[in-house]
Amino acid sequence: PFYDCIVLNGTVVTAADIGRYDLAIKDGKIMLLAPAGHLARTSATRVIDAEGAYVMPGGIDAHVHLAEPPLFGKGRTADDYTTGTRSAVAGGTTTIVSFAPQEKSESSLLDVLNTTAEKAADQAYCDYSFHLLISNPTAQALDEFTALRERGISSIKIYMTYEALQLRDNQILDVLLRARETGITTMIHAENGDVLSWMTKQLEDRKLLAPKYHATSRPQILESEATNRAIALGELIDTPILIVHVSSPSAAQVIRQAQTKGLPVYAETCPQYLFLTRDDLDKPGFEGAKCVCSPPPRQGPEDHEAIWAGLKNGTFTILSSDHCPFIYDDAESGKKAAITPEFPEGHFKYIPNGCPGVETRLALTMSADRLTPQKFVELTSANPAKLYGLYPRKGALIPGLSDADLVIWYPSDTLEPFPITNSALHHNVDYTPYEARMISQWPRYTLIRGEVVWDRDNGGVVGRKGYGQFIKRDRSSLTNSNPSPWTVESF
Ligand code: URP
Ligand code: ZN
Ligand code: ZN
Ligand code: ZN
Repeated sequence: PFYDCIVLNGTVVTAADIGRYDLAIKDGKIMLLAPAGHLARTSATRVIDAEGAYVMPGGIDAHVHLAEPPLFGKGRTADDYTTGTRSAVAGGTTTIVSFAPQEKSESSLLDVLNTTAEKAADQAYCDYSFHLLISNPTAQALDEFTALRERGISSIKIYMTYEALQLRDNQILDVLLRARETGITTMIHAENGDVLSWMTKQLEDRKLLAPKYHATSRPQILESEATNRAIALGELIDTPILIVHVSSPSAAQVIRQAQTKGLPVYAETCPQYLFLTRDDLDKPGFEGAKCVCSPPPRQGPEDHEAIWAGLKNGTFTILSSDHCPFIYDDAESGKKAAITPEFPEGHFKYIPNGCPGVETRLALTMSADRLTPQKFVELTSANPAKLYGLYPRKGALIPGLSDADLVIWYPSDTLEPFPITNSALHHNVDYTPYEARMISQWPRYTLIRGEVVWDRDNGGVVGRKGYGQFIKRDRSSLTNSNPSPWTVESF
């Protein structure tokens, strides 16, 4: 047969289009899109019948924490490149962008990149790249931005909170200026670390230490203030920024205003801000610790509605998982790390921040049935590819150009609604914050570069560890390059 694989009669969806097509794959690439019924079954070695099902470019999860040291002061992330990417493919994700974290004591970003690349080499089930996480922007680190670009790294993340990571405003400006000069997109974790410490002290003084007070310690204003400041710093340097994991309507509003002014401000949100509330932090005992992440889940339905609205109206560019897993019942992290000799009942400030979610991101969002299929693809695949310089190799289905990375769903209404259970997931974590939540869809097949790596009804994860490749990235195609140098005299 001429083709390696054909996918017949599916409803093929891209960010731009939806229609019934046959799709043909050869040598790992999309080779042909033709009207449904066009391709003969004998034209390929493998035939997938997708009658009645959505066929989409594979999910791109541009915010995943794997094999990270205890940078946030508490616990090591539970998933490594093997278990984290295994979980990704089982959830329809074909490329992840994880973090290469610089610790304050490390001066060379290239060393950080090399160390992380070694952790991932020959381990991954899906394709991957890294964002450099910068906690100490020394002159040497800044000078390495050009070399990072040559290595295919076109994005960095910085923090406005967490003692081990927080940058001062002048350091943020140093980073943004060099990012502008080298065509790097800067992701910013926007929470005011000083306000957070002060709020935490107020709660401690009143002995309010249960998991739900994690949310109390981080009110919306702490997020919207930092978001506003991050945007102002980006405007001063006139360079693109992306605000990561936005949880609050007030921060989304600040972002919307900046976008309306024409500033190159992008934003990300995550399923936890669509499906969890602060009540989830208030479960009996210390169970609420399982839903602690930063920023925290907000109050309730009105907040979720505002985030859904932001997904629909373009305030949010991408929907990522912020998969940042810790084992709950583990000596090193989770529960035990939050329960110390000093605080035998536990203290919210010792709970590692972050939830697992790389596997549930697509199914949860698809099952909610709130976005058009094209918008879904835009937010979960096409836009992350464009924003981070992977497009159109990833995030698209352009014959000859795009890798044959696909997620194929079940024909509509063929799955009975079923509960998410941690036992069915493929991460190395002992819980999911979505346990028992009912959903109605799950990826049936995941293909990466033409190979079926997930076949839910026949073998589950059928890809292999080490198949995933490091993908070199270009500069963002969502933003224009800035040809003129930044000059202080222009102010
Ligand atoms: O709580 C979270 N989001 N943990 C992950 C670390 C981060 O800031 O993204
Ligand atoms: Zn033909
Ligand atoms: Zn963050
Ligand atoms: Zn994160």
